Amino acid sequence: MYKFLLIIFLASATLAAQPAEPLRELAEARNFYVGAAIQSRLLLNDDYANTLSREFNMIATEYETKMCEIQPFQGLYDFAATDAMIEFAEAHDMAVRGHTLLWHECFPDWLARQSAQLNREEAIAIMQDHITTVVERYKGRISAWDVVNEAFEDDGRLRQTPWLQMIGPDYIEMAFQFTHDADPDALLFYNDYNAEVMNTKSDAVYEMVADFVARGIPIHGVGLQAHFITGTIREGGHINPIRLTENIERIGELGLQVHITELDLRHDGPATDYLLNLQAENYGEIFDICLAAEACTAVITWGFTDRHTWIPQFFNNPEAAPLLFDRDFMPKPAYFAVAAALAQEETEE
Ligand code: XIL
Repeated sequence: MYKFLLIIFLASATLAAQPAEPLRELAEARNFYVGAAIQSRLLLNDDYANTLSREFNMIATEYETKMCEIQPFQGLYDFAATDAMIEFAEAHDMAVRGHTLLWHECFPDWLARQSAQLNREEAIAIMQDHITTVVERYKGRISAWDVVNEAFEDDGRLRQTPWLQMIGPDYIEMAFQFTHDADPDALLFYNDYNAEVMNTKSDAVYEMVADFVARGIPIHGVGLQAHFITGTIREGGHINPIRLTENIERIGELGLQVHITELDLRHDGPATDYLLNLQAENYGEIFDICLAAEACTAVITWGFTDRHTWIPQFFNNPEAAPLLFDRDFMPKPAYFAVAAALAQEETEE
């Protein structure tokens, strides 16, 4: 008898853990993208590949498309990893976000070594060559690019990146123009962190993109990274939902899209049930906010399984569980909260 009950209990527990309808189907029904950042070598793992293609309709290239990876030596490009990710995406009918063309990190050594000697024209030529080569190769296959990543400081000033130092502040608009020239159909995004809610940094980003729109510099959207901390998404918390909506709305009023580009929700120490449920609530809330805003067309999580995430190393917490699936690719409470948000009826504006 006891054994029998146990079997029933286990069977229903497994059933409960089975997603009714994959996230991507819920998203597609409302013309929305739910994406995940990925790494090419992990695609060799069947659990990873199957979960990814079942649940998501968009990928982002987590690091292998960055400059130091894709152009490790001057003029010598290594496209293998990006090719593999795009082939996977195409085989599974998923859109691709290219991340990222210009970033102060993953700045190649070969360029760092000569940057002090380069004049402005030479630096522009190197930037143009990089952007043109990469974007033309994936023309029509990468539908959205994070053209420039993290160009601002929290105080709203431009970050002193090597690109700023070599070229000057107009390096950003040049990068957008070169990208557009190489693939006129790709959607071009400016992407940053700590600029999700209304604040000094998001004001600076807003001013820049509004100016681009006014002057006809090709730009189509703003990426809000959203590396958040569980429990801080609430009125009076670090991420005030109302101030997030306001920021999305003002970007939308410029005629631009918003993508939540790198969502994850971290915590200190081990993941307790309490934290996992709070995390689920927070995930649901971010999806609700994006889904309710006309301009917000995609949410991409930065990875999808707690087995592979940048958080433990970067924030020094080996026990961090910031994503939708656990280390064994089982859906967490956060997964079900996202499914519920996507399944909700669209509310009338
Ligand atoms: C991180 C990747 O996750 C790591 O694999 C890589 O080594 C370093 O970069 N903001 C960004 C991303 O825009 O590019 C970063 O990704 C995380 C923070």
